Amino acid sequence: MGEAFPATSMPDRDWWSALWPDPQGMLQALGIMPGMTVLDLCCGDGYFTAPLAKLVEGKVYALDLDESMIEMARAETARQGVSVQKWIHADALDVAGHLPEKVDYVLMANTFHGVPDQPALIRAVRSVLAPKGLFGIVNWKTLPREETMVLGQPRGPRSEMRMPPARLAAVVEAGDFISQATIELPPYHYGSVFRAL
Ligand SMILES: C[S@@+](CC[C@H](N)C(=O)[O-])C[C@H]1O[C@@H](n2cnc3c(N)ncnc32)[C@H](O)[C@@H]1O
Repeated sequence: MGEAFPATSMPDRDWWSALWPDPQGMLQALGIMPGMTVLDLCCGDGYFTAPLAKLVEGKVYALDLDESMIEMARAETARQGVSVQKWIHADALDVAGHLPEKVDYVLMANTFHGVPDQPALIRAVRSVLAPKGLFGIVNWKTLPREETMVLGQPRGPRSEMRMPPARLAAVVEAGDFISQATIELPPYHYGSVFRAL
């Protein structure tokens, strides 16, 4: 089993749900639609996995390195009355060996900033996508950390770890993707969607 990416521990639910009051709206804004098969890469405690499973009617795979996160995500989807096709306890870089089929969409939310070998991660994602499949990345904006306050405290990764959209696009496009859209996810995030070439 690989190592956890630096600065990617799961945020506490109190401020996370205050920051993201409409998780399903965020997923739709990223172009995820019913009928797609989606991989939630680094799913954490399932905050986005459960609404994702609802949106695409269970055609979801969810992966995390931390087994306790998988257990929390599993409980959250059950609580919301939805299901996931397969829970994958593995390193994100090894995802190809664990998926029984190619997927239409890979979502990576709030994790890419910490990936040490980003080209390797992009190759892994590319290898599990169907032709013209989409890769959606949600990142913290490059605001100073002291300006991204939620419930009275600065939140998110250190300022210097945050990636501007242009730098993200350069690294993902180098891995055989083309930028499709970059959207605002107020107050402190943006989402970039790439299509596999
Ligand atoms: C900041 S959380 C984000 C969770 C979720 N995507 C969200 O936005 O609510 C990052 C997650 O990545 C997982 N993670 C860190 N390193 C990983 C790795 N090498 N492979 C797979 N998952 C990893 C952590 O266990 C954690 O659950």
